[in-house]
Amino acid sequence: MELQGGPSAISLTPIIDKVCMASPSKQPHTLIAGGAGFIGSHLCDRFLRDGHRVTCIDNLLTGRLENVDHHLGNPDFTFLHQDISTSADLGSDYDYILNFACPASPIDYLKFPFETLDVGSYGMKNLLDIAQKSGATILQASTSEVYGDPLVHPQKESYWGHVNPIGPRRVYDESKRFAEALMAAYHRELGVKTRIVRIFNTYGPRMRLDDGRVLPTFMKQALSGEAISIFGDGSQTRSFCYVDDLVEGIVRLLHSDEADPVNIGNPDEITIGQFAEEIVALTNSGNTISYHPLPEDDPKVRQPDIIKARRVLGWSPRMNRQEGLKATLGYFEEEVSKLGIQMAKPSAEHRPLGRMGNRGAIQRRRHQSEAFRHRAWKKIKITDPRT
Ligand SMILES: NC(=O)c1ccc[n+]([C@@H]2O[C@H](COP(=O)([O-])OP(=O)(O)OC[C@H]3O[C@@H](n4cnc5c(N)ncnc54)[C@H](O)[C@@H]3O)[C@@H](O)[C@H]2O)c1
Repeated sequence: MELQGGPSAISLTPIIDKVCMASPSKQPHTLIAGGAGFIGSHLCDRFLRDGHRVTCIDNLLTGRLENVDHHLGNPDFTFLHQDISTSADLGSDYDYILNFACPASPIDYLKFPFETLDVGSYGMKNLLDIAQKSGATILQASTSEVYGDPLVHPQKESYWGHVNPIGPRRVYDESKRFAEALMAAYHRELGVKTRIVRIFNTYGPRMRLDDGRVLPTFMKQALSGEAISIFGDGSQTRSFCYVDDLVEGIVRLLHSDEADPVNIGNPDEITIGQFAEEIVALTNSGNTISYHPLPEDDPKVRQPDIIKARRVLGWSPRMNRQEGLKATLGYFEEEVSKLGIQMAKPSAEHRPLGRMGNRGAIQRRRHQSEAFRHRAWKKIKITDPRT
């Protein structure tokens, strides 16, 4: 692995300008911006596994180097510690560019409002210019937030949305909408090969415990014996997609010819109240639930219409919520234990803790969760929409 960057790079190994060299073989070269984040790091795993050379660019604003440190030493992996909104030279010999750089949770984008607007405008434009120069296909991680607090349910790609441009979610929603407009302009005016994925709530290992999103928050509260906090009366709905399903949808979209946006998400809708109960049962924690005022502009419903993904990509989610949550539990237990928080109760599934003691048992459960994830995913027959 190469670790490169400006003065703030984490470690300065001799800078070999690998990203600017022409590829001697036919091995595809893929740039993943935001590759040290939750979803981006799973994309790094997938594209390396598929035989690509991967350059991961991340300024570590909300991501973590530990999400990709298992690729350290892999000659096909390069890490650039750079900001896509401000960096002048991000390379130019790419076959594919995936833009997953952007603060994504409400806590993060409200803490970094200008960075969020910059990355959807300057950052997006920088990457589109590189795609144009390289002749690369570029995919933008857009979001269900472009639909705002929707008046149409479930949300189809043809729905234009119901967004408050000066509301609490303004910087994120409008940054993403502007990025889509840039993508459409580069495609229509300059012929750049663009793909737009509108991602609905996704979960899985490597989410940060403190990112304020519903699953890490509920898991942390349940595992540490706190009351589960629900905003509003819990009747607002969400739908949750397991990260491996999302990654499969993204790969299929990238290799398709579809330039218009495509929703990727799991249409299995659940109220937040029911979701809290599921987490309490999964963690065997018996927590109470506390209710708080609903934040302004919180979407009341959220469910993807995935007819287009089924038709154009032959994609639909394979991991149901029960399986996905089981596959993620071990990860969250390990994250909570890192905080030095005494776990309220071990999950029923994995008791007793055994002779290894708490720490060893948590690691063992983490491996069980990972093994479960791989078994569940292996059962799934993957078809290539191109064949
Ligand atoms: N997780 C979801 O449920 C979800 C839903 C819809 C859309 N998305 C989109 O997917 C993408 C990834 O989301 P995530 O959940 O993995 O979030 P994340 O915060 O874990 O990852 C974002 C990554 O981008 C990096 N980054 C931010 N600004 C950057 C910049 N200017 N230059 C370089 N790197 C930068 C961060 O350091 C981080 O590693 C985001 O664009 C987000 O809007 C995610």
